[in-house]
Amino acid sequence: MANTLGIKTWDYAEFYVGSARMAAYWFSRALGLRITGYAGPETGVRDRMSFYLTSSEIKIVVTSALQPSTYDIWGWVQKHGDGVKRWAIQVEDVDKAYRFALSNGAVFERSPHMLKDDNGYIVEAAMKIYDDTELVLINYDNYKGLFRPGFKEPHQKMRLNFNAGGLKHFDHIVGNVRTNEMNQWANYFNKTMDFETFLDFGPGDISTKYSALLSKVVRSKDDLIKMPINEPYDGIAKSQIEEYIEHYHGAGIQHIALYTDNILDSIEALRDNGIEFLAVPDTYYEELKKKNINMKEDIDELKRLRILCDASMGSGGYLLQLFTKPIGDRPTFFFEVIQRVNGAQGFGQGNFQALFEAIEQDQALRGSLMRT
Ligand code: FE2
Repeated sequence: MANTLGIKTWDYAEFYVGSARMAAYWFSRALGLRITGYAGPETGVRDRMSFYLTSSEIKIVVTSALQPSTYDIWGWVQKHGDGVKRWAIQVEDVDKAYRFALSNGAVFERSPHMLKDDNGYIVEAAMKIYDDTELVLINYDNYKGLFRPGFKEPHQKMRLNFNAGGLKHFDHIVGNVRTNEMNQWANYFNKTMDFETFLDFGPGDISTKYSALLSKVVRSKDDLIKMPINEPYDGIAKSQIEEYIEHYHGAGIQHIALYTDNILDSIEALRDNGIEFLAVPDTYYEELKKKNINMKEDIDELKRLRILCDASMGSGGYLLQLFTKPIGDRPTFFFEVIQRVNGAQGFGQGNFQALFEAIEQDQALRGSLMRT
């Protein structure tokens, strides 16, 4: 077995939002995902509405509450704003993975259980992580439906086949936590899921003139699942992590990185679809030219689309990446688009400075950079 938990692949990420129908439109029209499934009153689900969207191996669900009694959803959205409630990984055997995690100290929100319909059954269990977030272990071996029980073909005539330039799958999912929580969570994942700490950015590694943060990357030992965890660190101004925690009202998912094998096409398409990205200054590309990275992309093309490049952990390879602005109303969740060339393994550490300065410019505009 490639990893102790029997992890096969990433599965879905589910967002809780104010209006699932409107969020589905954004994910489809802007991010280029296809509306593949639907659950709501027309499919026998009375208290909530969900749309299931896909592109290649990317699976995203957006869910909203339909009743005041559906407090688990609207109470969550009221507190955190639109964001990631849970994300899932497929495992070979949910019971086995559950028993391993539980015996190593994991806290479960739901123990393994079956969900059935005419297409068979799925098995899933949910670990409680980052305040109000869940990490779901799931298995579809005995299910033939389009996603999971409750979901049917969408009856809505939303024909929205917009181009997203070939986004493929999740690359990593990042959590933001409070000061002194990062090590606890890294140890928790390493112990309960038999993960390992892959990268550790300590004091001074990630800082700008104004603010700083600490970050650890934990991953499954076969490098399939990568989960960076950030916490704020002392600085003269408020770090982006502090801003997140203030507006999200706690710890939670900061970003999901979407993998593409042609970032030039992806960013071009996403920009055309109206997605806003962080502003990268011209000076970044002057510095990039001096680094003489052996890459096939033209630096002027990267500059035109404001794509970042980093070879600091490439062992011959390099990665290309760019971050959207927060996708909702609060300065919390955003997406990253990433391409790894020739086995680059990092997370863009060579770009942190430029990136965080760009984030700080936006923080300053929101009036939440300097401490009040
Ligand atoms: Fe990232």
